[in-house]
Order: sequence, then C-alpha cells, then structure tokens
Amino acid sequence: MARAFVTGVTGYIGGSVARRLRQGGYGVKGLVRTPADGERIAALGIEPVVGRLEDAPLLSRLAREADVVVNAASAGHRGAVEALVEGLRGTNKTLVHTSGSAIVADVGEGEPSEHIFEDDTPFTPVPAKAARVALDRFVRDSAREGIRSMVICPSMIYGRGLGVKRDSAQVPRLLQESSRRQAGVHLGRGLNVWSNVHIEDLVELYSLAIAQAKPGDFFFAESGEARFVDIAVSLSRILGFGGRTFAWALPEASAALGEDWARYILASNSRVRATHARRLGWKPKHTSVLREIEEGSYREDFASHALAK
Ligand SMILES: NC(=O)c1ccc[n+]([C@@H]2O[C@H](COP(=O)([O-])OP(=O)(O)OC[C@H]3O[C@@H](n4cnc5c(N)ncnc54)[C@H](OP(=O)(O)O)[C@@H]3O)[C@@H](O)[C@H]2O)c1
Repeated sequence: MARAFVTGVTGYIGGSVARRLRQGGYGVKGLVRTPADGERIAALGIEPVVGRLEDAPLLSRLAREADVVVNAASAGHRGAVEALVEGLRGTNKTLVHTSGSAIVADVGEGEPSEHIFEDDTPFTPVPAKAARVALDRFVRDSAREGIRSMVICPSMIYGRGLGVKRDSAQVPRLLQESSRRQAGVHLGRGLNVWSNVHIEDLVELYSLAIAQAKPGDFFFAESGEARFVDIAVSLSRILGFGGRTFAWALPEASAALGEDWARYILASNSRVRATHARRLGWKPKHTSVLREIEEGSYREDFASHALAK
C-alpha cells in the first residue's frame, strides 16, 4: 500500500485531502498536536503522529518514510517546508505544498480590479505576501534536487470539509459577522473579487496532481469568482435579513480581524485562472459559491442551527 504523510490533518484542507487519499487506497499518517486530536483522526482511518511543524527531525523522518507528502498546515511555515524537503531530497518522491491565492492579492479596499493571474503570469506580491511567494519558489526549485515537488494554490475555498474540520475561512467568518450585525457584511463597497473553489473539487485536484503532475508544477485552484458584495447579499438572504448589507469600514475591520485578514483576505482582489489544472484534466463540478450559500451546505447548516434553537 502506498504511504502518504499529511500535515494539517485536523484542519479544513489537510483533513479533506487526507480523507480523499485514504479513500484512494493510501495508508495515511497525519501530524496532530495533541493525543486527543489523534483519536479524532484515527476514527477516520488516519494514523496520527503527535508533533508540531517546529519539530524538524520528526518531519524529515516522516517525509522520508512516505511515498507522498502533503503539506497543508501552513502556506507560510518555512521551517516545516525545509524539513520536509530535507527528508525527501534525492528520493524522487512527491511533495505537495499548499499555498494560497492571497499571494496575488492587491490592496483593493473593496474596489474592483481588472487584473487576472494565470499560473505563469509574473507578478510582484505585496510585501506582506513576499515570503509566501519565495516559499512556493523554494518548493518548486527543490524539483532540481530529486523531489517530485509541486505547489497547489487554492483561491477562496468553500463547502463542507471532508475531515474533522468542516468550516473554511472566509465564508464562515463573513457568515458569523453578518449574523452579529443582522446584515450581510462586506468591506468597503465590496466590489472586490476573489476566485473560489469548492473543497470537493479541490481534493480531486490534489489527487490528480499527485498522480500526474510534473516536478516543479504550480496549480492555481479556482472554478469561478464572486464579488464580496454578492456574497454578502446571499449570506443576508439565508440569515433572513432580506438581502440587506453592511459596508464594514477597513480600519474597523482591521481592528477586529487583524490587518492581514481584513486587508488581504476580505478587502482585496485575488482573481486567478486554473489553466494548468484544467490542462491536467481537472474538471471541477461546482461553479458557484453563491449557489452553495443559498442552496447548499451553508443554508443546510443555518437551517439545522435555527431549528435547534
Ligand atoms: N481555507 C482556505 O480558503 C484557504 C485557501 C487558500 C490557502 N489556504 C491556506 O492553507 C493553509 C491551511 O488552511 P486551512 O483552511 O486548512 O487551515 P486550518 O483549518 O486552520 O488548518 C490548519 C491545520 O494546520 C495545523 N497546524 C497549524 N500550525 C501547526 C503547528 N505549528 N504544528 C502542527 N500543526 C499545525 C492545525 O492544527 P491544530 O488543529 O492543532 O490547530 C490544523 O490542522 C493555511 O496556510 C491557509 O492560509 C487556505
């Protein structure tokens, strides 16, 4: 049986990818921070190893023992990536690093942008994202050192996670904030746009890339895009606020959520096109975050929550 090692296995992406690998016949080991988390993931058929990203010798050993390594704990943890590369150097085994399309985010402040990035479009990141871009480069360059390395760079992920963690980042956070304010929340005018991808389609891309990608490949993952004001209207509708929206001022949102989140995750533009993934044969099934909110898992979750109250 082929062996996979996954970091971030208690998280949204890592847990989903680990389950997909398990279903695909891999024996999967997953890094967890506590024995209690180990029990939760063992129930999904994943073998837990207690440790942290900061434990370089452990990560190198686990990487060396696996056939496929998926780093889904942190897009920006340089030490962990260096340890995985150290373990895999010269083995020609597979390393998939998870980045995020915030690498191309602008300082949009809720305004639109015409800039669209394909996988190979050159760009200069905002200073806050420069280290992540350098880390992606480091992973891809490790292909020259006998590692079948690749980077998957998801845009805004939505839908119900397949592992122990069900919720992603942006939509649940906006849902929470909208519920609190009794109106669908966006930042500034909310005319900024992010590409997005459903978690079920994303895990299929991991699976396909592990099977077919070339060393050094890079894949944006996206199957549509949406303005934040439209997300706010959809959230408002399922929350029963009739489409009413609230324009959250950036300084206030930064104080509440942190500068990085407010500026580069919620008020920015990040418009990407998954040309490499589609060329590889990836065929995403979900194409609308608005439909997922209004008719899919978010509406279901909200309905069951409302019924339980
Ligand atoms: N969700 C999205 O829409 C999205 C899109 C693009 C890129 N990304 C990026 O992809 C990465 C994973 O995202 P996610 O949404 O899956 O995050 P998440 O749900 O918060 O999961 C993070 C995972 O990493 C683990 N982890 C974090 N620091 C660790 C450490 N020092 N040692 C060991 N484990 C550690 C967490 O363990 P614990 O359970 O112990 O905390 C958890 O399993 C992030 O860097 C994120 O920025 C996310």
